[in-house]
Parts: sequence; structure tokens; C-alpha cells
Amino acid sequence: MTYLDYNATAPLMPEVVAAMQEGWAHPYNPSSVHAHGRKARQLLEDSRRILADAIGAWPDEVIFTSSGSEANNTALRAVDRPLLVGASEHSSVLETARRLGGDIVPVGSARS
Ligand SMILES: Cc1ncc(COP(=O)(O)O)c(C=O)c1O
Repeated sequence: MTYLDYNATAPLMPEVVAAMQEGWAHPYNPSSVHAHGRKARQLLEDSRRILADAIGAWPDEVIFTSSGSEANNTALRAVDRPLLVGASEHSSVLETARRLGGDIVPVGSARS
């Protein structure tokens, strides 16, 4: 078996570290109307535009979440039914799908 998941420890590219450090240098609330808040809002919206360009989406289609589990929950609650998910998915996908009434589809290996 070849295990391809970094298990939440994927190394970051230097460009990503630099961009994150710039964000940490401005730890302000982007919803605040003062100068620091406006700077944070600008960084947030610039990031949203760059990400949208990278994946061929519109900026208002990019939603930032605090974790993978929150992203999975958000996405699963936004899609139409029927909801089919593979049995090998992360528990945040499986549990949410179960609660939403989705079908869990067993996934066998290519050798089975
Ligand atoms: C595929 C997948 N989904 C969701 C998660 C959960 O992410 P988080 O710990 O950020 O909620 C992980 C964590 O490793 C994952 O590998």
C-alpha cells in the first residue's frame, strides 16, 4: 500500500510562509473600520482574488474556513441531494453526510 496523505503535516512552500508572515504582521479584525481593520480587509480580499484566479473561480465563490472539517461541513450542506460519499472519506465528511441523510458508498481497492 502507498500512503499519499500528509496527515495534516504538509510542508509549506517558502512563498506561502512569506505570505502568512505578512498576514501575521497585521493581526487585525478585517470587519473593523479603523485603519488596521481596513488593511486586514485589503489583505483578505487580495488573497481571495489571487485564490479565485488560481482555480478559475469568482472571488465571491471563495469561502475561507478555519479548518478542513468546517470546509467539509460547509460544502456538504451547500450541495443538492442525493448526497453520495465514499466510505473512505474523512470522518468530518462521513458524519456530516450521515446527519444530512446521505448515502455512504463503499469504495474497494483496484485489486479487490
Ligand atoms: C481529507 C481531510 N479532511 C478533513 C480533515 C480535517 O481537517 P481539520 O483538522 O483542519 O478539521 C483532514 C485532516 O487531516 C483531512 O485529511
